[in-house]
Amino acid sequence: MTTPKGLFLTFEGIDGSGKSTQARRLAEHLRAQGRDVVLTREPGGSPGAEEIRRLVLEGDPDRWSAETEILLFTAARRDHLERTILPALEAGQVVICDRFADSTRMYQGLSRGDLRALVDQLHGLMIGREPDLTILVDMDPETGLSRAKGRQGTEERFEDFGPELQRKMRAGFLGLAKEFAGRFRVIDGNRDMDTVARDIAGVVEQALV
Ligand SMILES: Nc1ncnc2c1ncn2[C@@H]1O[C@H](COP(=O)(O)OP(=O)(O)O)[C@@H](O)[C@H]1O
Ligand SMILES: [Mg+2]
Repeated sequence: MTTPKGLFLTFEGIDGSGKSTQARRLAEHLRAQGRDVVLTREPGGSPGAEEIRRLVLEGDPDRWSAETEILLFTAARRDHLERTILPALEAGQVVICDRFADSTRMYQGLSRGDLRALVDQLHGLMIGREPDLTILVDMDPETGLSRAKGRQGTEERFEDFGPELQRKMRAGFLGLAKEFAGRFRVIDGNRDMDTVARDIAGVVEQALV
């Protein structure tokens, strides 16, 4: 006999693709069905990791070298995994995480040189856990950028990368979906929120049976 274990779901995609919107909507949808859901995000998701979030998302864009930044993201993820994600999964909850290691593979792995191998090595050493299911919200890069620019905030260290990086990241995420085809599902985010939410709910409900 195996005890029921939770399900670990992540949302990935470029800035402005609708990840946070859809993660929230999915959490509401599953809770309405009576499921026990933990909605969390990266970087952050535990008190220690939220402190690291401020270090990586606020301040001067040149504040950290690419390598130091990878270490900070990995440290935050380790704390999040230990304190929030694994205990929830052990308790049989559904964990919905807004960004996870795939975002580090893309942003820290590709945006300042080719550091993907380093990201993967550290992931293997310190994290060693992939999601059960990853929803890639695929989105036209220009639309994503204009949606993201509509938001205001202090977390702007990465916000001036522009359309070229958005295009590169979109292609990179689609590449990851092929690389990890077993756990990725690609959802077209260029549609109204309700339609996107319905598609995602359908994919997740299949994974939950
Ligand atoms: N399907 C959609 N159509 C139009 N606007 C959307 C849609 N999904 C999200 N938005 C809006 O676009 C902005 C970015 O969405 P958000 O969920 O924050 O994206 P992300 O978390 O991927 O960066 C928000 O203002 C949100 O309300
Ligand atoms: Mg978001």
